[in-house]
Amino acid sequence: MTTTTATLQSVLDRIDADFDGALDRLCRLLRIPSISTDPEYATHIRQAAESLAVDLKSIGFDASVRDTTGHPLVVAHHPGPPGEKVPHILYYGHYDVQPPDPLEEWDSGPFDPAIVPSEHGRKIVARGAVDDKGQLMTFIEAFRAWHDVHGTMPIRITVMLEGEEESGSPSLDAFLQANRDELRADACIVCDTGMWQVDVPAITYMLRGLVYIEATLHGPGMDLHSGGYGGAVVNPINAITRVLAQLHDDRGVVQIPGFYDDVRELSDAEAAQWKALGFDERAFLASAGLKTPTGEAGRSTLERIWSRPTCDINGIRGGYIGDGAKTVIGNRATAKISCRLVADQDPKQVQTALVRFLEDRRPPDCRWTFHYHGCNPAIRVPTDSPYLAAASRGLATVFERPPVLIGSGGSIPVVGSIQKILGFDSLLVGFGLDDDRIHSPNEKFEVACYQNGIRSHAAIMDELSRLSV
Ligand code: BES
Ligand code: ZN
Repeated sequence: MTTTTATLQSVLDRIDADFDGALDRLCRLLRIPSISTDPEYATHIRQAAESLAVDLKSIGFDASVRDTTGHPLVVAHHPGPPGEKVPHILYYGHYDVQPPDPLEEWDSGPFDPAIVPSEHGRKIVARGAVDDKGQLMTFIEAFRAWHDVHGTMPIRITVMLEGEEESGSPSLDAFLQANRDELRADACIVCDTGMWQVDVPAITYMLRGLVYIEATLHGPGMDLHSGGYGGAVVNPINAITRVLAQLHDDRGVVQIPGFYDDVRELSDAEAAQWKALGFDERAFLASAGLKTPTGEAGRSTLERIWSRPTCDINGIRGGYIGDGAKTVIGNRATAKISCRLVADQDPKQVQTALVRFLEDRRPPDCRWTFHYHGCNPAIRVPTDSPYLAAASRGLATVFERPPVLIGSGGSIPVVGSIQKILGFDSLLVGFGLDDDRIHSPNEKFEVACYQNGIRSHAAIMDELSRLSV
């Protein structure tokens, strides 16, 4: 742990003194079911955006809810300390959440946050607890404490909170294009990633990309009696599962032609750095209720989630899926298929190759239709920037153990969009844990991670304020 300045210490004290308030404010946000994929929840999305804008206004920000062709964003500005030359940081988070289903697997209501005991003390259980409402509140609460103690911010700040990250950010790029000047900053801080362990903070320097398609195989002109026709006509569910089974060989290697062409091997230096992290494979698998490592043969678990591309079927639909039995041959079957991509893979090329793979296996009398849900490249951010060094120092004032550099298997499209459209890099600092059940029933955020996250953002601002610009 490094030493703390008096300016920062007073803010850290304020954070601890007001922590119950910070928990209440997070719970209030978690009660709003801001599910972006489902149009039925559009009013709740707007309600969440408006409540965040009101909150930011109350701590000295000029905040507004900004319409897009999809869900709105919240944008807020704070000029920082009057008359001082300080860095300008764009803070990004998303206030939309994934759908909560299957509802019956939750121990409490997904939008009725519960604070219950956990192996690390206490945890907040709710949809969005960590992805990403709890995380975006870590920086908002740090701003609040700084405002309450010092009446201003130590750096110039722009905040951008998105309302459709969980549905592939369809309006984001156009918004960034249209508001380039307003959103320009020196660097972005993204709060949507994880820690290495509950007591080891992390900065994420690589994210995987994502290609996502929904493929429907259409067969007979209508649903058919499975006794009258079964065995004599094409069954789209039988056919699609046969095609999908060919996506991998028995060694877990993806069979789409050219899939691995641009994938690079890890450098020796990177392999050594990852080894030094001492990854606990058993704990990782246990966090998913499993014991047996599985995936592309000859690769470690860390490679499989950070540096190797994958292909997964995320959903499958067809025929009769209601209660009881119905003897039917459905007229079509749908699979949702996603590929996680790594550095140097071209998402468009992978998308085209995947579609061709399916088309090449089209059974007679059938036809495919496709919906495209996302096409983002993998991202790497520089590890030698002064902003990253400042963030590391900030984290080292809050945690006893220094931060480590890690990869991530997930995707955060905004990081690539900011690089491409606004022309600066992001710094990925987050406080989630592997076992937080993101996108799954009983999603949780450790109370300790929330509090340390708030403290960390205060410490990071303090370090950033001392960078020369
Ligand atoms: N917070 C996640 C990304 C993430 C996951 C970071 C795991 C670190 C570890 C983010 O909200 C998310 O779920 N992103 C989507 C993006 C997609 C919809 C384009 C993802 O990765 O599936
Ligand atoms: Zn998510």
